Amino acid sequence: MSEQQRPLALVVLISGRGSNLRAILDAIEHGELPATVSAVISDRATAGGLEYASRHNIDILALDPADYPDRESYDRALQGLIDAFDPGLVVLAGFMRILSAGFVQHYRQRLINIHPSLLPALRGLHTHRRAIEQGLGEHGASVHFVTEELDGGPVIVQVRVPVLPGDTAERLAARVLEQEHRLYPLAIRWLAEGRVRWQDDQLLFDGQPLQQPLQLNSNALQPDR
Ligand code: GRF
Repeated sequence: MSEQQRPLALVVLISGRGSNLRAILDAIEHGELPATVSAVISDRATAGGLEYASRHNIDILALDPADYPDRESYDRALQGLIDAFDPGLVVLAGFMRILSAGFVQHYRQRLINIHPSLLPALRGLHTHRRAIEQGLGEHGASVHFVTEELDGGPVIVQVRVPVLPGDTAERLAARVLEQEHRLYPLAIRWLAEGRVRWQDDQLLFDGQPLQQPLQLNSNALQPDR
């Protein structure tokens, strides 16, 4: 497996508890992810994940949308903060804001998100409740590159989680979240190692075009961790 020489520098954007951020930091700490988190930035100063990151001696920053007249000016300020760290990858981990087109274009091919559904199903909010309401047998999470289309960019990898009889949105969300914590560090690892690439409008895995998103638990692909 080809390892890049230097660890991939990440800037992670969060809005809340930051459990995915924790999973990423744990994977780095355990030597499972050749990356460093240069900074964690939040649109909410009270986000729990900020405190966790600061305890790990990571630079933390909060940028309050109320201080900016519109989305574009906020996103420009955010971009300035991020670029000061010169990241190789910008990681959205529960960052609850719609991003302007200029921001998304600036980070094209180095901006990823984790979304709690089997995209393209259930874009947007309240995915767990909607999965139950729609009687879906299967739910899950997806890691995808971010494009201007909300939750619409190319999907790298997904994990499937069965919807069980009697599931509540909370119970289902908890089981999906547990899987997100495996999924996100692995996807970032593949990017850090150069195994996943988005090149000329085509996602590649180990140099081969990816026709379908990778599946975390499938037999066709046994992730080596
Ligand atoms: C996760 O469910 C993620 O899929 C979604 O927002 C939630 C963030 O949770 N985008 P956390 O802050 O990482 O705990």
